[in-house]
Amino acid sequence: MTACIVGWSHSKFGKLDGETSESLVVKVASEAIAHAGIEPRDVDVIYVGNMNGGFVKQEFHSSLPLQAHPDLRFKPSTRVENACATGSAAIHMGLNSLAAKKARFVLVVGVEKMTELNSAQAGDVLIKASYVAEEAEIEAGFAGIFGKITAAYFQRYGDKSDALARIAVKAHKNGAKNPYAHFQKEFEYGFCRNPSDKNPFVAGPLKRTDCSPVTDGAAAVILADTDTALGMKQAIAFRAAEHVNDFLPMSKRDIIQFDGPTLAWKRALEQARLDLLDLSFVETHDCFTSAELIEYEAMGLAPRGQGERAILDGWVERDGKLPVNVSGGLKAKGHPVGATGVSMHVMGCLQLSGTAGTMQLAWPKLAGIFNMGGAAVANYVSILEPVK
Ligand code: COA
Repeated sequence: MTACIVGWSHSKFGKLDGETSESLVVKVASEAIAHAGIEPRDVDVIYVGNMNGGFVKQEFHSSLPLQAHPDLRFKPSTRVENACATGSAAIHMGLNSLAAKKARFVLVVGVEKMTELNSAQAGDVLIKASYVAEEAEIEAGFAGIFGKITAAYFQRYGDKSDALARIAVKAHKNGAKNPYAHFQKEFEYGFCRNPSDKNPFVAGPLKRTDCSPVTDGAAAVILADTDTALGMKQAIAFRAAEHVNDFLPMSKRDIIQFDGPTLAWKRALEQARLDLLDLSFVETHDCFTSAELIEYEAMGLAPRGQGERAILDGWVERDGKLPVNVSGGLKAKGHPVGATGVSMHVMGCLQLSGTAGTMQLAWPKLAGIFNMGGAAVANYVSILEPVK
């Protein structure tokens, strides 16, 4: 146990007209500091997770949290980027500052304002997180990348459209209980399973209901070293925090193996001295429903090619043996890319502190979090446990 989360905050996710990345950063930074019960002057170091790349004109984000309070002026603050795993990357930078004893309290903010662009324009930004030299011409933005991955999976293991539709239904059922979620409504199985005007194919076998939406939002956490954290009003410890990067080109990998996520999970569980089923729940990176399907295999819940069992047999439902994405996941909660990793950690903290409201699971003790940048390229697993 090296560090803890001692305060947190989460904005509503969705199409947030009237908000800017600045207003979102200021809001969650102020709220997280207040939630931790510290003063702005107590913050030693700041990291801001923001992918950007053209979502908004304001590229340089590191000093935006300083707008939250004059006492944050002159604090060292750095913007961090690691594609869709940007939020977890920022948290890892904070953990490094604590491990190096360069800080007692670290403020980590994740933010993205995506909806100033339409979906096609957002796709042009997101495709920059592929290996552009070989993959930039794939159509439909990042959905095109996962369309190819899904088609390859279906070719090897058979058509899994039923399982993908069930994953979408689960996400929206859970998202309906999450007041922060972009979509707070349930979707029928038939709607998700069958193509229609309202649910067209987007890329390969992926329909609209298989995709996470284009979303605005922000989340923040306050990190502290464990000794300091034990004196705070709440403390959720990192029992493990692992980061594994794989090759960027899909052509250099068996892309449906998700080797990077598999290794990140293995190392995290070893570090925590736990088995997967010791976890009370998992928040995983369902940027597309097929990503969640393959991640069941990467985390070790089902053998290769059999991930569908986890959803078809109900293992990952709220009342299953390992609930997955009780927040609604990226699919229903939304995926403001730079905020997502921080949001996942906040969802973990809400559950483990018993403050998840309508989303609350009964007595969760350990949370697993998997956040992924690119197509299984930048892979982060955290295991969280409440200590106070
Ligand atoms: N899931 C379910 N419904 C969605 C949706 C999604 N992902 N995205 C949009 N909708 C709904 C909208 O709410 C709207 O509903 P309404 O008609 O009832 O108001 C309708 O679909 C049309 O919305 P629109 O924004 O015009 O859809 P679109 O076709 O332009 O965009 C996607 C849909 C799937 C292409 C877009 O959300 C997308 O690109 N997602 C992937 C984002 C991504 O790649 N993220 C990074 C992953 S690594």
